[in-house]
Amino acid sequence: MASEVTTRPLTEDDRELLRTATLANLNWTGEARFGPRDLDERPDLRHYTGFRPERGDLGLVAERDGQSVGVVWVLFLDAHDPGYGFVADGVPELSIWVAPGARGRGLGGELLRAALDEARRRGVERVSLSVEAGNPAVHLYRRSGFRPVLGAAEGTSAVDL
Ligand SMILES: CC(C)(COP(=O)(O)OP(=O)(O)OC[C@H]1O[C@@H](n2cnc3c(N)ncnc32)[C@H](O)[C@@H]1OP(=O)(O)O)[C@@H](O)C(=O)NCCC(=O)NCCS
Repeated sequence: MASEVTTRPLTEDDRELLRTATLANLNWTGEARFGPRDLDERPDLRHYTGFRPERGDLGLVAERDGQSVGVVWVLFLDAHDPGYGFVADGVPELSIWVAPGARGRGLGGELLRAALDEARRRGVERVSLSVEAGNPAVHLYRRSGFRPVLGAAEGTSAVDL
């Protein structure tokens, strides 16, 4: 029988998981365009691996048999250290990753919905993200209400909560 997927809140101790997820997202085409050293050396990438609850950041980890199979995280990167999907201060940026063997079965959609529900519950009014042209993840984002933001960097979308 297939074992169940459970979720738990993301914590500051999950840096390794965020490194894995960020690298996989950056290399979503399958080509190794970025390596672990890029994550350490490039501030524009490294900040995606720093989860800071005291700033308002929120996130969820999906686990099966004690292994992480997905993560969604929402970071309040501001104008001094903007992410690729920066829209405005106070609009956090969402990232999501599901392990290859667990994709295409609704887990990403569930994690996304749970993260947006939690953000709404906390009074967040808008959430953004960045997705490269051609990434099929865009279908999931559109289905979840994200729309392109005019005037922001190409690939930036946001949803009003
Ligand atoms: C994008 C991602 C988080 C979606 O998680 P998931 O569990 O596969 O998502 P769901 O099963 O809930 O929904 C599937 C949707 O995601 C899209 N998708 C993106 N990559 C996919 C993949 N490798 N397999 C299946 N669906 C994928 C599909 O277009 C699908 O939308 P559709 O049903 O309208 O066609 C996951 O596929 C992933 O981690 N991909 C690789 C990294 C990546 O691109 N991350 C996003 C960077 S912006």
